[in-house]
Amino acid sequence: TILVLDFGSQYTHLITRRLRELNIYSEMLPCTQKLSDLEFKPKGIILSGGPYSVYAEDAPHVDPVAFELGVPILGICYGLQEIAWRHGKNVLAGEKREFGHAGLDVHTENGQVSRLFKDLPNNTDVWMSHGDKLSRMPDGFRTIATSANSPYAGIAHEEKHIYGIQFHPEVTHTPRGVEVIRNFAVGICGAKQGWTMEAFKDKEVARIRKLVGEKGQVIGAVSGGVDSTVAAKLMQEAVGGRFHAVMVDNGVLRKDEAKQVKETLTRGLGVNLTVVDASDRFLDLLEGVSDPEKKRKIIGNTFIEIFEEEAKRIAKEAELTPHAGPVEWFLQGTLYPDVIESISFKGPSQTIKTHHNVGGLPEKMKLKLIEPLRELFKDEVRAMGREMGIPADLVGRHPFPGPGLAIRILGAVTREKVRVLQQADLIFIEEIRKAGVYNDISQAFAALSGDRAVGVVGDQRLHGYLVFLRAVQTTDFMTATAYEFPPGVLTKIVSRIGNEVEGVARVLYEVTSKPPSTIEFE
Ligand code: XMP
Repeated sequence: TILVLDFGSQYTHLITRRLRELNIYSEMLPCTQKLSDLEFKPKGIILSGGPYSVYAEDAPHVDPVAFELGVPILGICYGLQEIAWRHGKNVLAGEKREFGHAGLDVHTENGQVSRLFKDLPNNTDVWMSHGDKLSRMPDGFRTIATSANSPYAGIAHEEKHIYGIQFHPEVTHTPRGVEVIRNFAVGICGAKQGWTMEAFKDKEVARIRKLVGEKGQVIGAVSGGVDSTVAAKLMQEAVGGRFHAVMVDNGVLRKDEAKQVKETLTRGLGVNLTVVDASDRFLDLLEGVSDPEKKRKIIGNTFIEIFEEEAKRIAKEAELTPHAGPVEWFLQGTLYPDVIESISFKGPSQTIKTHHNVGGLPEKMKLKLIEPLRELFKDEVRAMGREMGIPADLVGRHPFPGPGLAIRILGAVTREKVRVLQQADLIFIEEIRKAGVYNDISQAFAALSGDRAVGVVGDQRLHGYLVFLRAVQTTDFMTATAYEFPPGVLTKIVSRIGNEVEGVARVLYEVTSKPPSTIEFE
């Protein structure tokens, strides 16, 4: 394990990400972590960047034990200053902020470059983002690299295996950065590059078995999305029938979704799944409600109510099952980006937030939380899903919002509108798959306008539905651009929707970026 201590830089999670890409196991903890009571012995420690000045009164500092563990340390940016500060307060408040690309000159000593820069060219492009810089070399250290603005862009205490760099090797703007990270983790720390999805899965299955015990039972919700499906499959492998998956059909799912999820999870993956058809209950409650936030609330709250009822029923049945204990655990498919919030260092005075979970369900139901995917990024979950034999189209599926089609029907939801939208959406996605562009698009869906549009069918003027189509490309869903379809694809889609979905008068393709638009319509 390489331990990453977070000083609050916006890039810290990229360090763990890069290590993971090198198949090296890493854990990230806040910089204030007491190191004497760690449950594992790290092979090396990386001190991240951070927004502070080491001289600031409330500046965070690493547990001095770090320097006594005898393991190699790499300080990045603030981490470098922290090392220098620990070794005699050699840091100067920078007069000039340095931000952006810089050329790094790698130094040689007796014809050799530092082990940290092994196989790097003598001059290489790096990314800088700092205010303070070193004023003087701490005792026992030497310069291993410089840049035009930073005479101490890289320092090393080779005997103690302590290294510091002013630039950020973890960002893609530092093209050879991954090699620096590998030189440190593998070359200097001796970390093994054996961390694979399979190893991760085995470790997680073993951990769950130990946690839940011989008799413990687990409950969890599935949606048909990749995260909850992978989590459910993992749990099934760990505890088999003592895992009870629940899917709530809220009446605003995609066409035939509940049926397909049941088929894939039960028959395909062997998961013990109950589908609760609560569509009438949801659709009745949604009647006449046009405020999107109200719609979201109704769907969220009703989901919780139904899940609780179902959990109670399962718990009661479970009590009657011989050789099984009570339902005590709640499975949640939380991913790493959701937990970064709660494990990042947020500054000395701020309390660390715990991340949100499904409407506080586990707490309310007095269940203990299991989150087997909490260390993974989305693409890693997908890789694991593929390895577990989950069908490719499910693994690569576009995200679907919890409130479902309710926030894609502008204004009040009716059963008729749900029917029209489900059909239009199905055709849209079918044609996207046929054109072979599904994987080029991050999210595609149809939506329905609240107003009617004028059209003509046969000889009759028709006041029909107005269907919007949206397909976007994005990496983080925070910003997005509209997808440019190959010629002919949209025309075909529009013609099929017009011909096959009764009551549609017009179909529009929306090309606004986010911002100013959002991905969803409400
Ligand atoms: P927006 O519309 O905010 O969407 O640009 C960004 C991403 O979030 C999804 N989204 C939601 N997901 N409940 C969800 O579970 C919601 O209320 C919700 N609203 C938006 C959206 O599908 C997109 O992937």
